[in-house]
Amino acid sequence: MPHLALLGGTPTRKQSFPQWPLQRPAQLAALQQVWESGKWGVGSPFIAEFEKRFAEFQQAQYALSICNGTASLMIALKACGVRAGDQVIIPAYTFIATASAVLMVNAVPVFVDIDPETYNIDPAQIEAAITPTTRAIMPVHIAGQPADLDAILEIARRHQLSVIEDAAQAHGAEWKGRRVGAIGNIGSFSFQSSKNLTAGEGGALVTDDKALIDLCFSYQNCGRVREGGWYEHRVLGGNFRLGAFQAALLTAQLSTIAEDMQRREQNAHYLDERLREIPGIKPLLVHPHVTRHARHLYIFRYDAEAFDGLPRERFIEALRAEGVPCHKGYTPLYREQLFVLDPRAYPWIEGINYRELHLPVTERAGNEEAVWITQPALLGVEKDVEDIVKAVAKVQQHVDGLLAKRE
Ligand SMILES: Cc1ncc(COP(=O)(O)O)c(C=O)c1O
Repeated sequence: MPHLALLGGTPTRKQSFPQWPLQRPAQLAALQQVWESGKWGVGSPFIAEFEKRFAEFQQAQYALSICNGTASLMIALKACGVRAGDQVIIPAYTFIATASAVLMVNAVPVFVDIDPETYNIDPAQIEAAITPTTRAIMPVHIAGQPADLDAILEIARRHQLSVIEDAAQAHGAEWKGRRVGAIGNIGSFSFQSSKNLTAGEGGALVTDDKALIDLCFSYQNCGRVREGGWYEHRVLGGNFRLGAFQAALLTAQLSTIAEDMQRREQNAHYLDERLREIPGIKPLLVHPHVTRHARHLYIFRYDAEAFDGLPRERFIEALRAEGVPCHKGYTPLYREQLFVLDPRAYPWIEGINYRELHLPVTERAGNEEAVWITQPALLGVEKDVEDIVKAVAKVQQHVDGLLAKRE
């Protein structure tokens, strides 16, 4: 009788993990209030209320709501003075929006490798990527763990570059006791369906710089200025606003996010302790200056050698069959078709051939090593995460069966 579920055995777990979003009655009441107010869009007090509460939550002076986290990155880039042909340094291990936002403002993404222990941009490699046309560094707080902001800000200061934090995955995360977003010049968040704070779609910018947030307001709001008239347009902006229903849904979640964060942290800590006891499994490390990890993704590193050479994809298949929702995650961004197909598609990019790029840590993470469990699986009780540990241990113990099956 085979033991592994993939080979016909009984799965470690049959029940599903918690589903996201957690639907709470206060959210529905908030939506009803907006509906009753009849103020569903621009100028609605529900939008202003969310911006105030979100700025407070992220410990920033100012917040501006945006229609999504891709548009908010584009607006941040423009507000920081990134112009056509300027280079922006980003990590190669991230969601496509980090790179596409740079391309969409006609700037040039310059990929830098990641730290093998945290998967965040490796500050030691940033300096070598700086050229006379570099304008900004855009670290991503990957999986919800802040990037090394001390090192990044120090490099940025020396080279007079802006730091735009892509905090799409890092609501409430902290670097040395301070919440991310306004530690650099400006920070960008996403409230898309999978995110730890969600309205289905949505985004926000936070900063301590009044001039910068006012400029962002103009880009977000058809080029208007705060004190100007409705038909007065001073810069080239668009409509990148968030609606009042989404704003109210997000404000309601700001009352429960602390509780969710605590549960994720507790379960992630349990996984960190238990998974590292299994040969060939290494959870990512948390940098000692990270005082709060948002745990948007739980990522561990898989070493095929400790599994007698079983490829990661097959390991993931076996783990999924055991009832654990897991994925292989990102592939190196510069290998995406949009970067390799037609170099003439972006005529403003000169002197960079993405096809020749080779960043070993990103490639190992993306192609062989990373295994992701997304945040809803961390919202259950200890028994739920214990099942994850049991399932991983089971695959490790019975790996022979999978190898024999392949021959
Ligand atoms: C790192 C990162 N940056 C940017 C985004 C873009 O956000 P959105 O999907 O809201 O446009 C996302 C998420 O989707 C993300 O994970």
